[in-house]
Amino acid sequence: MRVLSGIQPTGMAHIGNYYGAIVNWVREQETAESFYCVVDLHALTIEVDPKELESGTLDTFATLIACGIDPNKSTLFVQSHVAAHPMLGWIMECTASMGELNRMTQFKDKGRGSDSVKAGLFTYPALMAADILAYQADRVPVGDDQKQHLELARDLATRFNRLYGETFKVPEPQIPSVGARVMDLTDPTKKMSKSSKVMNSKIYITDSDKEIQKKISRAVTDTFEGVAYDPQNRPGVANLLEIFSVITLQKPQDIAEKYSTYGPLKKDLSDALIEQISPVRERFIELQNDKGELFALMQKGASRAIEVAEETSRRARRAMGLVVI
Ligand code: TRP
Repeated sequence: MRVLSGIQPTGMAHIGNYYGAIVNWVREQETAESFYCVVDLHALTIEVDPKELESGTLDTFATLIACGIDPNKSTLFVQSHVAAHPMLGWIMECTASMGELNRMTQFKDKGRGSDSVKAGLFTYPALMAADILAYQADRVPVGDDQKQHLELARDLATRFNRLYGETFKVPEPQIPSVGARVMDLTDPTKKMSKSSKVMNSKIYITDSDKEIQKKISRAVTDTFEGVAYDPQNRPGVANLLEIFSVITLQKPQDIAEKYSTYGPLKKDLSDALIEQISPVRERFIELQNDKGELFALMQKGASRAIEVAEETSRRARRAMGLVVI
């Protein structure tokens, strides 16, 4: 069973990234042959500062390791280190139609019909399909917002196989089995997001114990009596209970029953968070200060990824009538 997923090189992760996606990846690597990719080529589809892209890629790579992706269990690599991705990306662009790419809601949202939008933003889903198909992945753990892209990857694989013969495995989307949709601590109606400018809205994996404690203590709750899990009417406390739930693997409802006021709940939650996040922070800082180790791990991941992706690329090229030497 093979699993592949990708993450944008946006640098420092917050607990929403950690509990929403990364914990699933960490869990997957125990039972599936896992490939995890820092998608730096996708980052080029919007305006990006070269220095930020570079540090974002290094930090994202380090974050994944710090969060528990084990380079001995998973193939962790950077997309641009594997030339088969843009190669298969082109092949996917020549498999997809303009109409299909035009229907992608992410492009419609981000592109907004502007003339100056990059062509790469339009073809982004073709490259994403290539990322997945290159590894013959069985399953792709992704968030809701990526379902449409995954559907396209399935369509493209199916079409290619029909036109040129069985070449790609048709991947299944995977709804995360654990994990949570972590909301903004200051506005629990929104997802915790990197783009929020409000300091207390999110907890980074690099936050100190003190910062974690402070942000949880200031998290928005409500003025209802007691503690209960009621996402509709009490989204702030529901969010805290859900975070607590992914840490302890207990039901949010069961956790709520143990408390009658917010103070002790927040105290116990921040203790539990600190216990999980502080070793992640320590390992991240260690890696950030040891670029040699980081580069060696990138090499290791890339060489395994190249092996697998290159084989698929050769098969696909041969099937299409490109001369392979
Ligand atoms: N588009 C994905 C996102 O924005 C990132 C991504 C790129 C990806 N290639 C992928 C995710 C392949 C899963 C599989 O989150």
